[in-house]
Amino acid sequence: MCSGGPPGSPLLSDGGILNEQGRPRRAAPTETMKRVAVIAGDGIGPEVIGEAVRLLERLRETHGVELQLTRFDWGAEKYLREGVSLPDGALEMLAEDFDAILAGAFGDPRIPSNKVAEDVLLGMRRGLDLYINLRPVRLIDARLTPLRDRTPSDVDFVVFRENTEGAYCGAGGFLKKGTADEIATQEELNTRRGVERIVVAAFEYARARGRKRVTMADKSNVQRFGGDLWQRVFKEVATGYPEIEARHQYVDAMAMFMVMDPGQYDVIVANNLFGDILTDLGAAIAGGLGLAASGNIHPGKVSLFEPVHGSARPLAGNGIANPIGAILTAAMMLEYLGHTSASDAVENAVREVVLHHETTRDLGGELSTSEAGAAIGRRLEG
Ligand code: NAD
Ligand code: IPM
Ligand code: MN
Repeated sequence: MCSGGPPGSPLLSDGGILNEQGRPRRAAPTETMKRVAVIAGDGIGPEVIGEAVRLLERLRETHGVELQLTRFDWGAEKYLREGVSLPDGALEMLAEDFDAILAGAFGDPRIPSNKVAEDVLLGMRRGLDLYINLRPVRLIDARLTPLRDRTPSDVDFVVFRENTEGAYCGAGGFLKKGTADEIATQEELNTRRGVERIVVAAFEYARARGRKRVTMADKSNVQRFGGDLWQRVFKEVATGYPEIEARHQYVDAMAMFMVMDPGQYDVIVANNLFGDILTDLGAAIAGGLGLAASGNIHPGKVSLFEPVHGSARPLAGNGIANPIGAILTAAMMLEYLGHTSASDAVENAVREVVLHHETTRDLGGELSTSEAGAAIGRRLEG
């Protein structure tokens, strides 16, 4: 199956069919109905997003969640077929016509340049200015962490990853490429505005959720310029949140402490690249990439929700990928769209299936991707 959602899905229409204005052809949403673009993407993306969509459909019956889903086939297959990664006008359409985007994964070995992920995924993050990459790290069941003697209360924090600049700005170049004297530069961009807004977002989250400590990770002992800016901004912003402890760690030490003593973290804030690396580590200590959810958010604007994991090619097409990362990602999206009780219900259902070992094999269970998705659906009713 190459598209998100089960065949014949009543909720999902195809964004490939455009009207005269170049917009997806579909019924106008009611005032309360939120519009979601679904981009299943590559590898295991369609399988795990299919389960997330099935659950969203179930939530219509159990929780009255009315969503209008429109599917887009952007990804490796389309690129290889038509040479199109992110279609012209796509970002404008997403910004104007949608409340949220639910995506699977992007990446395919047949496209070694990673052009599709660069254009579609990074294109949406940058082009829609989704400056917060919010990645929770929560252990549901002690047996799932590779750390010895740790329980869910020891692994419970969120990472605020800056999502629009840093090492992901795409600046750099080659000199004398292909020669013995070749030079490659890779620039990192840090703007005052960009650093400040992610640090503020981290402190605001801590305040709103009653979390006690924000830890900023950087490498300011080596990266003297960008690191210096992050240090100054962090200290300045922290003065506005006297009830929250503001603490700094070098990112290498943080990687070590995340393994040795993860209980010390409430909220972590880091630049784009460090946030990327730390959140795979975070996923690992919370049970693996199959569980990890993520939101790419610009408050008040269309925002993108995609699991932390990638296209995991070796798993694709075998029905063994864990759908929980995608399903918890859909729960984050529901919360963003204001469907809080449905979001809570999904998180509870996931907790239940994990605790009862009704999972795929990466978590020690025996279920296929669709059986694992169905088990969560059954638990929705309690
Ligand atoms: P990956 O996250 O795809 O997979 C790494 C490993 O994690 C897998 O081999 C598997 O063991 C495990 N895993 C990941 N998701 C799982 C799931 N749902 N269930 C069970 N196990 C799971 O990382 P990779 O292999 O480094 O990257 C593959 C491709 O995906 C690359 O092209 C990469 O650029 C891309 N990628 C895309 C995204 C994204 O679209 N958001 C994120 C990360 C990587
Ligand atoms: C992620 C991924 C992406 C990133 C890749 C696929 C560009 O690793 O979402 O974590 O580096 O941000
Ligand atoms: Mn990553």
